[in-house]
Amino acid sequence: ITIGQEQALSSLTPQEPSTIIQFTYTSNAQMYSILKRTAAKCSHISHVYSIGRSTEGRDLLVIEFTNNPGQHELLKPEIKLVGNMHGNEVLGRQLLIYLAQYLCSEYILGNQRIQTIINTTRIHILASMNPDGYELAASEGHLLNGWTNGRTNAQNIDLNRNFPDLTSALYRNRRSRHYRTDHIPIPDAYWFGKVAPETYAVMKWVRSLPFVQSASLHGGDLVISYPFDYSRHPLEERMFSPTPDEQVFKQLARTYSLFASHHEQGWTC
Ligand SMILES: *[C@@H]1O[C@H](CO)[C@@H](O)[C@H](O)[C@H]1NC(C)=O
Repeated sequence: ITIGQEQALSSLTPQEPSTIIQFTYTSNAQMYSILKRTAAKCSHISHVYSIGRSTEGRDLLVIEFTNNPGQHELLKPEIKLVGNMHGNEVLGRQLLIYLAQYLCSEYILGNQRIQTIINTTRIHILASMNPDGYELAASEGHLLNGWTNGRTNAQNIDLNRNFPDLTSALYRNRRSRHYRTDHIPIPDAYWFGKVAPETYAVMKWVRSLPFVQSASLHGGDLVISYPFDYSRHPLEERMFSPTPDEQVFKQLARTYSLFASHHEQGWTC
């Protein structure tokens, strides 16, 4: 390591936050207001936009951070973080709201590590993919809410089981010539099933930007799962089903788990 590299590395190591942000669970209305206020406070590096509405009409509001918000720049990595897909798994949602506020304040305060991240990437945060489920779970409160109420959306669809299964399609076709693993068409049969508006909004979002890294924060267990999340064989759930990027996913999963091993938090890609 040269001195220059050492300096570059030390500017990327975590520092104690210089800002104290109050940590409490927030209602949907409070969440929207915090995200909008954060984007207004940091309008030079932040912007909010909606990717659609939930079944009951609540906004699926995204806050983004980058040094030129609102548009994709060639070769700038697009990153997406999603929380609260299961409406009653709430820690990820709250951590992402906190992260948005943290990114904004630290950038303004001159934190070199945060500035470097925001100057060189574009981070999109959807703190709640299931605001309807959250509303139900929150109305029961933490003493009464079990692991099922509020997990699904308002149509009783588990959003984490609602995306198309492209894994078996890939494994069926991967030996054909010119088969592109990055442009697998959605099987027609998928559209015969029920597609939740929340799922559809995220699918449209994924198609609209060239995301290179994504994570969805769940709660309730200490686990990281990374693609493929479905099995290569529809009848054998536990088959090893690696993607061509197995090594990268493994390294990302290890990095996250070593860093986050004290938090009761799951991360699935
Ligand atoms: C990030 O970009 C801003 C605006 O161009 C610049 O003022 C700041 O010094 C940059 N920070 C780092 C750490 O590169």
